[in-house]
Amino acid sequence: MNGGPRQAPEDAAGTPQVGEQFAPGRELAARPDTEDGVAVSCRGLSRVFGGTRAIDNVSLDIRNGSVHALVGQNGAGKSTFLGMIAGRVRPSAGDIKVLGKTFRYGDPRSSRAAGIGAVYQELSLIPHLTPQANVFLGQPRTRWGLLARRAMRNENVKFCVEWNVPPAPDVTADRLSVAQQQLVEIMRAVASSARVILLDEPTASLAVEERQALFRLLAALRENGTTIVLVSHGLDEVLQNADVVSVFRNGQLIATREAREWTKREIIEHMLGDASRALIESELTGTGGGRSTGREPAV
Ligand SMILES: Nc1ncnc2c1ncn2[C@@H]1O[C@H](COP(=O)(O)OP(=O)(O)OP(=O)(O)O)[C@@H](O)[C@H]1O
Ligand SMILES: [Mg+2]
Repeated sequence: MNGGPRQAPEDAAGTPQVGEQFAPGRELAARPDTEDGVAVSCRGLSRVFGGTRAIDNVSLDIRNGSVHALVGQNGAGKSTFLGMIAGRVRPSAGDIKVLGKTFRYGDPRSSRAAGIGAVYQELSLIPHLTPQANVFLGQPRTRWGLLARRAMRNENVKFCVEWNVPPAPDVTADRLSVAQQQLVEIMRAVASSARVILLDEPTASLAVEERQALFRLLAALRENGTTIVLVSHGLDEVLQNADVVSVFRNGQLIATREAREWTKREIIEHMLGDASRALIESELTGTGGGRSTGREPAV
């Protein structure tokens, strides 16, 4: 766990001290923007699984410091697309640039080094470790080359206060509810100080207040120049909280617009393509989400 070479901690006038570096809402040292203002650039990206074109020749620029939502029906290719940016799904064709550098498909460590933090649809916590240990696994806070245990504890508690969840120092991750595990996963991505955070349906198992806390956190991260790419079936929350919305259908990128330029009806029409108007009406008069929102809340 004691990673990295010994080095002196930052002095008081320098960058934030250990344990304070990513507190939401806190002013961070300005991060240099990419020259073209693009955080993630994809060109001609495709992924084929057997006979399925999960992603079909997608080109998309994701603006630096934006919240960019990806929407589409189940199986539209959203997770595959996110997985390619995260370095967990190998593209069949195409190029990805992250923060101006060509991103080579690799392991989680190399994607973290490229500035990417990802939370996938399926949970990936180590069940017998505490939530805090999970948050800092592979990215421990150190001071003078030693583990900064108190700093990690403080950071974790700060997060939990922000998110209104008990810090639960004595339980293991497998004792948490699905929603709480999801929050720990998100804390983990935020704790990595990633410049680009990928979230695959982060709100699917969250209660209303937890969703609101998540979007507050995302807004604070965006203020600090972090780029967020978010998959969600909650069209209302996407329209309220995202800057840009891209619609996927059958592995293809159908349209990308500023969120304020979309209506919910237009998004659904683009998601469904030529499907019947009746279906669109029933979606609009329903709860507002896609099929995934039918999942039982975990808490
Ligand atoms: N590992 C895989 N092996 C085979 N087919 C896959 C694999 N992963 C995805 N697919 C297929 O690729 C297509 C796109 O799947 P993907 O999971 O990216 O969709 P999605 O938009 O994330 O859907 P959902 O909203 O249900 O999460 C689907 O037809 C899916 O069955
Ligand atoms: Mg998915």
